[in-house]
Amino acid sequence: MQKQVEYQEAIKTKYPEQVVIAIAKDRNGKANPITLGWTMIVSGTPPMMAIAVAKTHYSIEAITHSRTFTIAFPSSEMADAALFFGSKSGRDTDKFAEFDCKTEPAKAIDSVLLADAVANFECTLESQVPAGDHIIFVGEVVSAHINTESKKRLYTVGPGHKLGSAS
Ligand SMILES: Cc1cc2nc3c(=O)[nH]c(=O)nc-3n(C[C@H](O)[C@H](O)[C@H](O)COP(=O)(O)O)c2cc1C
Repeated sequence: MQKQVEYQEAIKTKYPEQVVIAIAKDRNGKANPITLGWTMIVSGTPPMMAIAVAKTHYSIEAITHSRTFTIAFPSSEMADAALFFGSKSGRDTDKFAEFDCKTEPAKAIDSVLLADAVANFECTLESQVPAGDHIIFVGEVVSAHINTESKKRLYTVGPGHKLGSAS
């Protein structure tokens, strides 16, 4: 049986929610990472993934400028990086200069990979769709990478950006 409630109450049931870090270079060549929970796989052939970015975020400028972005699956040990990248803006911060997070050059696009992530996906911007206060960026995956070590993914496990592993 279902009970009708406000959206804000029902959506609290969503946890655990996956966490990704998307990275795009801005017009000055600065790689800007942003932490995101609103993300999904949207096509299998060709492989495509989507991210929803708030219209006010600096990442909008970086992604629309470079038209390419990395989607990294951070590991459960990367909670501090995810919180830093998810609380500072690239508008006034060089996040990779201020937070020690190992990167590697991407292979097919002008971006970087997160060396300690579970996996990285290099995407070229395929389309963008306005959705309320966010813009959905759909990227075609042109190169994919996995960590040579076995690692667990990072999730948001409860309200207030409580991060951890799902199991
Ligand atoms: C766990 C977590 C999940 C987040 N999910 C989203 C999201 O799905 N979409 C979004 O626009 N911002 C999300 N944010 C907020 C942005 O990461 C944050 O506002 C960031 O500082 C914006 O960076 P930018 O201005 O450099 O683009 C999330 C933050 C955290 C910590």
